[in-house]
Amino acid sequence: MMTRGYVFNFFVLALCTLMAISRANQDPTQTTTALLIRVDQSGMGDYKKIQDAINAVPSNNSELVFIWVKPGIYEEQIVVPVDKPFITLSGTNTNGTIITWNDSGDIFQSPTFTVLASDFVGRFLTIQNTFGAGNKAVALRVSGDRAAFYNCRILSHQDTLLDDTGRHYYKNCYIEGDTDFICGDAASLFEYVLLWAIQMFWTWGHYIKKGPMVTQPHNSRSSTFLDYGLDWWQKLD
Ligand SMILES: *[C@@H]1O[C@H](CO)[C@@H](O)[C@H](O)[C@H]1NC(C)=O
Ligand SMILES: *[C@@H]1O[C@H](CO)[C@@H](O)[C@H](O)[C@H]1NC(C)=O
Ligand SMILES: *[C@@H]1O[C@H](CO)[C@@H](O)[C@H](O)[C@H]1NC(C)=O
Repeated sequence: MMTRGYVFNFFVLALCTLMAISRANQDPTQTTTALLIRVDQSGMGDYKKIQDAINAVPSNNSELVFIWVKPGIYEEQIVVPVDKPFITLSGTNTNGTIITWNDSGDIFQSPTFTVLASDFVGRFLTIQNTFGAGNKAVALRVSGDRAAFYNCRILSHQDTLLDDTGRHYYKNCYIEGDTDFICGDAASLFEYVLLWAIQMFWTWGHYIKKGPMVTQPHNSRSSTFLDYGLDWWQKLD
């Protein structure tokens, strides 16, 4: 599991050190560069919406694509389709780039953000479902293999993170919710991830108290939780 963390770190580093070229200058024969797409609500980037940037990635993509999202509140329900692997979506700071939606009910239809593609990386993002308590309201569903999230805040009440299928890595993240707020069948490593119960709830035969969780959520039994707690949280950004 640690090896995988290293590989993902290397992947992000490689993205940053590769020469990033704008779409206008893209040479389709050049395969050693990462494609950079900028999303900016003020109109100064390539797109104003995150989904439009994802849609611009070609089907069966095999290049590294770095989508840089300027600060703003993006009211969008986003899907990274299965045929668009190798996308990194990065905000600038975690609290500044907020992706928000309000939906509930079907866990596959309601997520604010859905990752179906493999080799996805999310960085410095707040992803929230503002539906509130009382029904399933997924903020983030991750179903692609080899997905990683760094410095992200994932917020809702019930079923906040649908850690659906595949192998995933979460580092320096904050995840809050109540009933079953991490669920799914993925095999994931959570490292320096603060799990915060926003109200007391009943699950798997016992009550979870409001506040930081000090036990592994029972419906994430195939995953590993390391070093979760409060002490590192101030350094999130
Ligand atoms: C992408 O790959 C799939 C599976 O190999 C294929 O069916 C599809 O036609 C491809 N799409 C494009 C646009 O090349
Ligand atoms: C981000 O927002 C959270 C919640 O409001 C807050 O606890 C945290 O200190 C903020 N981080 C920064 C760097 O402002
Ligand atoms: C979310 O939607 C529900 C149902 O449509 C509504 O009752 C609620 O006020 C909405 N919440 C926010 C924060 O918009």
